[in-house]
Amino acid sequence: MKKLNKPFPKDFLWGASTSAYQVEGAWNVDGKGLSIQDVKPIKDASLADIKVAVDHYHKFKADIKMMHEMGLKSYRFSIAWTRIIPDGDGEVNSAGIKFYNDLINELIKYQIEPIVTMYHFDLSDALEQKGGWSNRETITAFEKYAQVLFENYGDRVKYWLTINEQNIMIMLGEIIGVKLPDGGNKLKSIYQLNHHMMVAQAKVMVLCHKMLANAKIGPAPNISAIYSDSNKPEDATAALNMRIMRNWFYLDVAVKGVYNPIALAYLEKQDALFEIQVDDLEVLKQAQPDFIAFNYYASATVKFPESDLDFSQLTDQQRVRSVAGMYQQVSNDSLNKTEFGWEIDPIGFKNTLKEIYERYNLPLLVTENGIGGYDSLDKNHQINDDYRIKYYQEHIFQIKEAINDGVQVFGYNPWSAIDLVSTHEGIKKRYGFIYVNRSDKEILDLKRYRKKSSYWYQEVIKSNGEKLG
Ligand code: BG6
Repeated sequence: MKKLNKPFPKDFLWGASTSAYQVEGAWNVDGKGLSIQDVKPIKDASLADIKVAVDHYHKFKADIKMMHEMGLKSYRFSIAWTRIIPDGDGEVNSAGIKFYNDLINELIKYQIEPIVTMYHFDLSDALEQKGGWSNRETITAFEKYAQVLFENYGDRVKYWLTINEQNIMIMLGEIIGVKLPDGGNKLKSIYQLNHHMMVAQAKVMVLCHKMLANAKIGPAPNISAIYSDSNKPEDATAALNMRIMRNWFYLDVAVKGVYNPIALAYLEKQDALFEIQVDDLEVLKQAQPDFIAFNYYASATVKFPESDLDFSQLTDQQRVRSVAGMYQQVSNDSLNKTEFGWEIDPIGFKNTLKEIYERYNLPLLVTENGIGGYDSLDKNHQINDDYRIKYYQEHIFQIKEAINDGVQVFGYNPWSAIDLVSTHEGIKKRYGFIYVNRSDKEILDLKRYRKKSSYWYQEVIKSNGEKLG
């Protein structure tokens, strides 16, 4: 067979990613309202909280300058809804508008393409007090917020992402500080809330196309290739189940505007069929994303669940509680793990790209991929993160393989541009290309240092992905 050697597309968006609450700090300044992340109890006092994070709010100019030095072509960041509309659905805060105006202008000054996530785990606490996503009024609030963003930034922002990892919020919400309904018919309430987010996302995609002729918008779930633990047909069934419940359930609605019938049948058996109002299905159908953005960290391996499975005994990555009875995640002995126990599967990355593209045929944008580890400054103020370089070498190589297998990918924005506070493991779990001098307990001087991986990535970008070194 002839081996193709297609290069990365000419305008490939080599970038990096962050989210507002994990980098900005300045949690209560310039009129910002509280988000659920600001008020979440920090269970472990030895973990960094997000009140300062890495103070990107005050240091964004210097940070963007470093991104420019790295040669980044894009920066994927999120806007904090509570800076724009402090109570979620009331008055617009001009200082919040100004902050992101300045940030976007700074990116444009360096020809870095802004890729904006509208909502990344940080719902307004005021909205949460009124029921959060369980309350249909949050759909209207999200639409209003989106309108403000499109009006203010639509002249410069071409790429919009609606909701970051809706599927992870639904499956693992409590771990990442997102509140899910408890008590009563919990499963039904969770999927009701999920439906409201789906409708909100669809409305915002429609609005974007109406207001901004040249903008492109898409969903941003976390998608994983799913393997069967064995060749037992039961385990293959579990893999199929997980693919549907974890991946396609979310993308089918976002892209095709329909609910996956197998997922719905499962929910019906669990007495968890949520309510859909008359117009909702029409709204879902009207929305047409221009691309699919997705985050990929690892594949998942599953077997058919044991009947006495105790979900509380599973690790974070294995927690799949809302779909008990369908599949049980197990560890994959063929894969190495990160220092934090996450499996590493570059080929799974290629498989994920191929599966999504084959199923939906839309251009793909990678909005997260990366490795969390313990980094430290050596006495020469250098950070030797060879393990991160290896991770990226292997993953970028697989994007190229996917391109040569026929997949259309137009950007790669690994997690993360700069060290930030992890969703639940503090700042000691570092992801950045840029090191920030702080620890979980001490803010220190917050000085920035480029890690070895950032110099390596700079060369990758310069060679448009040809030189992985
Ligand atoms: C993604 C999130 O799920 O994974 C990020 O979008 C998050 O917000 C990243 O930080 C890594 O996960 P963690 O839990 O190690 O921070």
